[in-house]
Amino acid sequence: MATNSEQHTSIPTTATYSSNGGQASQSPLAGVPQAPKDPMFGLSAAYRADTDPKKVDLGVGAYRDNNAKPWVMPVVKKADEILRQTPDLNHEYLPIAGLNEYLSASQQLVFGEDSPILKDHRVATMQTISGTGALHLGARFLHKFFPESEAKRVYVSSPPYVNHLPILHDARLETGFYPYYTPTTKSLDFENLLSTLETIPRNSIVLLHACAHNPTGVDPTQSQWRQIASVMRERHHLPFFDSAYQGFASGDLDADAWAIRHFASLDFPALLVAQSYAKNFGLYGERTGCLHVVTQEAELAGRIGSQMEKLQRVNISTPPAYGARIASTILNSPALFAEWQSDLKTMSGRIVEMRKALRSLLENGKGGEGKWKHLTEQTGMFCYTGLDPEQVRQLREQWHVYLTGDGRVSVSGLNWGNVRYVAEAFGGVTGKGGRARI
Ligand SMILES: Cc1ncc(COP(=O)(O)O)c(C=O)c1O
Repeated sequence: MATNSEQHTSIPTTATYSSNGGQASQSPLAGVPQAPKDPMFGLSAAYRADTDPKKVDLGVGAYRDNNAKPWVMPVVKKADEILRQTPDLNHEYLPIAGLNEYLSASQQLVFGEDSPILKDHRVATMQTISGTGALHLGARFLHKFFPESEAKRVYVSSPPYVNHLPILHDARLETGFYPYYTPTTKSLDFENLLSTLETIPRNSIVLLHACAHNPTGVDPTQSQWRQIASVMRERHHLPFFDSAYQGFASGDLDADAWAIRHFASLDFPALLVAQSYAKNFGLYGERTGCLHVVTQEAELAGRIGSQMEKLQRVNISTPPAYGARIASTILNSPALFAEWQSDLKTMSGRIVEMRKALRSLLENGKGGEGKWKHLTEQTGMFCYTGLDPEQVRQLREQWHVYLTGDGRVSVSGLNWGNVRYVAEAFGGVTGKGGRARI
């Protein structure tokens, strides 16, 4: 075992701390470098600082209603009221794994009520700090328990969700990419995706987006998912699903869980799901999620659960209660569950409507039929417009329209009050129309 002095040899002595105006700093932390600003949060700050009344925020990663305001779902308000009226509700710690009735309802939501996985008790589930916490717990678990080999590497989509690599690297996992997107067609790079899964080492870990891929908005079809699953099963890869948009993508909870359930039906030796309730309940700040680890035996699931509890204990000790209580109240009440489904349709329906409106405005403008068809072919909150960094810069500086440098638009930032202006702005920077009526 390393002694304390051995462990500390890389830390500089007082004499080598960086100097400040010729005076040596006394702080042992003086060498801490400035970290770059998070690009997403930087974009929001720039938008807030813009005083132009026409400004439009298409960077926001949270649902906005037709007045560009956050939307508390009516069913969430009801659950909140029910909790407030519960006389014996207290602020005690939850169990380390989380609120029991929330965990079982979350399993049913992901895998389906009749899933053999649940009947056979082959899944270990932990309540987590939303989807990010689930991804991180899963990554830490894999770092600790996935056998050492050349296959111990997590493959993420290219382009990846902005936080996937940082989370995986923080858990000290090696990473690689699988091709996902073809810019020229603005669609799935299916052949290269499949051939990469065929050629990476057997037993690799593959991080997949369950639906509504972020940032591209491009999802495989069911037939493509079947082929992906079959190659992964044959090559003994471990599927690690990121499910951040169940019910939000299509408005249908079962349709958005189709890929996970299909993989689960193929009896992979192990399968992970990081589940977030941030978007589909609008519980962003309540940090409500779950990590599920599926195995082929109940006894192994029990051992995995015990190890995940150990990881949870040192990281957050026990999870936060409020969001889980809201979600559990809705998930465990048939009446509230039905209302939730209708609220999900309201959100996803508005997004589909805005995709159609923007496309229609852009294509009608200068006879550019089909040029913006990717706007309606993609799904979920995000859309990869194909706008390049220079066009994104012009949009921000000349039109006060804010989107990420890769041309990703958060469709929920569009509404009937700004979509014409945004179409005009897109038309202005691309020369592809945008002035017609819809
Ligand atoms: C693909 C994907 N995964 C995970 C997350 C994590 O979200 P949260 O930690 O808020 O649940 C997000 C949020 O935008 C996402 O888009």
